Amino acid sequence: MKDTQLFESNRTAWNEALEYHQKARGNSLQSGFSKPDFTTFERDCDAVLIKKLDEIGLCGKTIAQMPCNNGRELLSLMRFGAKEAVGFDISDSAIEEARRLAAISGLNARFERVNILDLARSEDHEQRESPDLGGLNVQNYDNCFDFIYVSEGSLQWFPDLDAYFSVIRRVLKQNGTLLVFEMHPFAYFFENGFESERPDFETLTPYFEKGPYHYENGLDYIGGERYETKDGYWFMHTLSDILNAMLRNGIALQSFEEYNLEMANNAATKLMDKFPLSYILTGGRAAR
Ligand SMILES: C[S@@+](CC[C@H](N)C(=O)[O-])C[C@H]1O[C@@H](n2cnc3c(N)ncnc32)[C@H](O)[C@@H]1O
Repeated sequence: MKDTQLFESNRTAWNEALEYHQKARGNSLQSGFSKPDFTTFERDCDAVLIKKLDEIGLCGKTIAQMPCNNGRELLSLMRFGAKEAVGFDISDSAIEEARRLAAISGLNARFERVNILDLARSEDHEQRESPDLGGLNVQNYDNCFDFIYVSEGSLQWFPDLDAYFSVIRRVLKQNGTLLVFEMHPFAYFFENGFESERPDFETLTPYFEKGPYHYENGLDYIGGERYETKDGYWFMHTLSDILNAMLRNGIALQSFEEYNLEMANNAATKLMDKFPLSYILTGGRAAR
């Protein structure tokens, strides 16, 4: 499958998924974001994230999430005092919902429907001054962000992590911080059809086989509803794939911690607190 077909198939899959997510959530996000202190960082695993965010400090910063889905995490990050935010995602319906939630919250956040890899455009990104996003007129986002957030279920949609991290580097400011709070590759073992009620080890995702893999029962990780779909392809990235792609593309590692905290809402990994299930890494632009 060509990359353009793959990304369009994933766009369709995520457009389809939103309807199920909305059904499972009801209007909890709409009523939540109408209140000034609402955040979605209330899972057990979020305590480590909040501690890290407090260390980094978001006050007055320009922040981004890549990808952002329906914006709920980015809007929650705004509660840490960020000045402005931009969320990027390929899904039309997720971006529409994000814009509605931003309007309800009154927070200074904008949302762009885009394949993140298409942000690799302009030639002169090393020289560019940091633009002021206040005018909301930005043609490209090179050298824009003090802080970039990447959260669970994000890296798996990019077949080529070099291409992905080269975009992250160019949109990150010189002294900016990248924070990745992702599912550990160990947790991705159980994303290929493994069922805890009928454990079949043949269905574990092979660590060294990149894929693509396909979610045959859809992407409703909120309500758990199963539906048949032809779309939605993802990739297994090993820890060394992730770290090496960052380093090769000019992002220096600043910290790395692994946790046994479940973040996938997957019945199988919920039972596995003896294993690494998530990690937080931070990085910044390396000198070149
Ligand atoms: C599981 S979400 C990750 C964000 C967040 N942690 C969440 O759970 O909502 C995955 C998101 O990646 C987006 N996505 C997949 N491929 C993408 C691409 N090439 N460019 C931009 N967004 C993409 C999907 O539309 C989806 O909203």
